[in-house]
Amino acid sequence: MNISAAKRLEGIGEYYFATKLREIEGLRKQGKDIINLGIGSPDLAPHPDVVEVLYREALKPSVHGYQNYKGSPVLRGAIADWYKRWYSVELNPDTEILPLIGSKEGIMHICMAFLNNGDQVLVPNPGYPTYRSAVKLAGGECIDYDLSEATNWAPDFKSIGAYIESQPAGKVKLLFVNYPHMPTGQLGNEELFAQIVEFAKKYELLVVHDNPYSFILNDTPLSILSTEGAMDVVIELNSLSKSHNMAGWRVGMLCGAASIINDVMRFKSNMDSGMFLPVQLAAAKALTLGSEWHEGLNKIYSERREKVFEMLDMFSCSFSRHQVGMFVWARIPEGFEDGYAVSDKILYNTDVFITPGGIFGNAGDMFIRVSLCTPIERLEEAIGRIRKHPLQPTRTTAI
Ligand SMILES: Cc1ncc(COP(=O)(O)O)c(C=O)c1O
Repeated sequence: MNISAAKRLEGIGEYYFATKLREIEGLRKQGKDIINLGIGSPDLAPHPDVVEVLYREALKPSVHGYQNYKGSPVLRGAIADWYKRWYSVELNPDTEILPLIGSKEGIMHICMAFLNNGDQVLVPNPGYPTYRSAVKLAGGECIDYDLSEATNWAPDFKSIGAYIESQPAGKVKLLFVNYPHMPTGQLGNEELFAQIVEFAKKYELLVVHDNPYSFILNDTPLSILSTEGAMDVVIELNSLSKSHNMAGWRVGMLCGAASIINDVMRFKSNMDSGMFLPVQLAAAKALTLGSEWHEGLNKIYSERREKVFEMLDMFSCSFSRHQVGMFVWARIPEGFEDGYAVSDKILYNTDVFITPGGIFGNAGDMFIRVSLCTPIERLEEAIGRIRKHPLQPTRTTAI
């Protein structure tokens, strides 16, 4: 058919994992037993009580209609209670919370609600690729800010500030931040969050803090909204995908000042309708789970992480043992072109897939990322295969 895609799709490729999963599927069809340590989709089940609520509610004849655009008051109330209990943040469930069909869609809605053509947005490099594509699709321009090991993956406020000052007033509009940071596993802290809030006030930016990993391998979940003055300049995305093993359910949330939530809502309500009520009620149930739930999950992730450390030691990668979240981020060994070369070599030699760090931006080129969403037996199987086919450098290092 002779129809061309819209200009806004120029430079927007298919999401890396969509393409890679197709390749992995192809290899599986050839009979290969691929161990996929790429994507961060929890392999463990939600709490049985959560599934029970979904089932019980879905049996009722009255729950199958369209739902309120703002989300069920039950879910909004549960989100407010959850924020108070875990993050000590008070939110008005009526005006300061917007349930989302996963936090990924929220990234797009925020960009559509606030960006005009050519507005600039500061995005972390390395960082979650969706920030970049959403900004571009909404007509904005991405300005990467580099993160590095040397500064514990914190933004270099001085150089970002100098950049903003070099631009016409108001040109730089949004700043995406994400701690615990994906892909590096760097934890945030109160001091860093206070710096971000102060910076946003100084340069009149709206900060979007993306916070889906605060419970994973971390005992002290933190929200940037608990920082003094944050509600004036920050909105926070959160999600049940990782913390409650509900990635496929698509339940997330946006929290922040009523006026901002309202603007996002004006866009979102024209795009979709409220989520299936039983899903919302089951999500509300999930948010009441106590520390035993998170401790149970973290015990499993912690054992897996030890195995992944063992694997990365076999590759002679260097990495921090203090990282959190659902992945391990590691610098590749000497003698390889980049993380793509390492990833391909491992895949073709051992049928184990590991994500090249470069898909998160070029500051991740010399890294790889290993997911913890695989049972320990499969990690052991991967280690066994790698032992049989050790990683050999593709080029010799110049002396
Ligand atoms: C940093 C980050 N933000 C957001 C998301 C999207 O999560 P959700 O399932 O809530 O859309 C992910 C998912 O991998 C992520 O890694």
